[in-house]
Amino acid sequence: MKQTLFTVISLCLPFLAFAQGMAPKSAGFEIMTNRQSGNCMACHDLPGVSGFTSNFAPPLQGVGSKWTVAELTQWVSDARKINPNTLMPPFGTTQGLTKVISDRAVLSPDQISQVVETLISWR
Ligand code: HEC
Repeated sequence: MKQTLFTVISLCLPFLAFAQGMAPKSAGFEIMTNRQSGNCMACHDLPGVSGFTSNFAPPLQGVGSKWTVAELTQWVSDARKINPNTLMPPFGTTQGLTKVISDRAVLSPDQISQVVETLISWR
């Protein structure tokens, strides 16, 4: 009986270790790397993403020590309020846009909070 238990446990260990290594990334990270929502890597280099990042915009590594939560929320929801000439799209509003198909912004306030939670952790 003891022998069987030992065998079962030792067979499970590698899978547990594997599952730990594959810990899911934060909800904010998922939004940022999803091409149909944030797709931030279309312009930014993101920590933890390699291969298909862009260096058009500044890398997002370190933004957590550069900006506050309120400022990061502004960047993501409507960067035009920080720099009227910015090429960063407004993710939290459709204000000022004339040809969007629906009135729905790209990201909801909840999704923006999740993104900001991840950004602020990048110090
Ligand atoms: C179309 C390109 C584009 C996309 C997509 C984009 N950004 Fe940006 N972002 C920029 C540009 C360009 C800047 C630089 C600001 C400027 O010049 O106005 C910027 C600046 C920023 C900054 C300030 C960086 C700093 O170093 O001060 C943050 C934070 C940021 N973006 C977050 C995001 C997040 C989060 C996403 C995805 C939800 C995203 N961006 C998607 C183009 C983009």
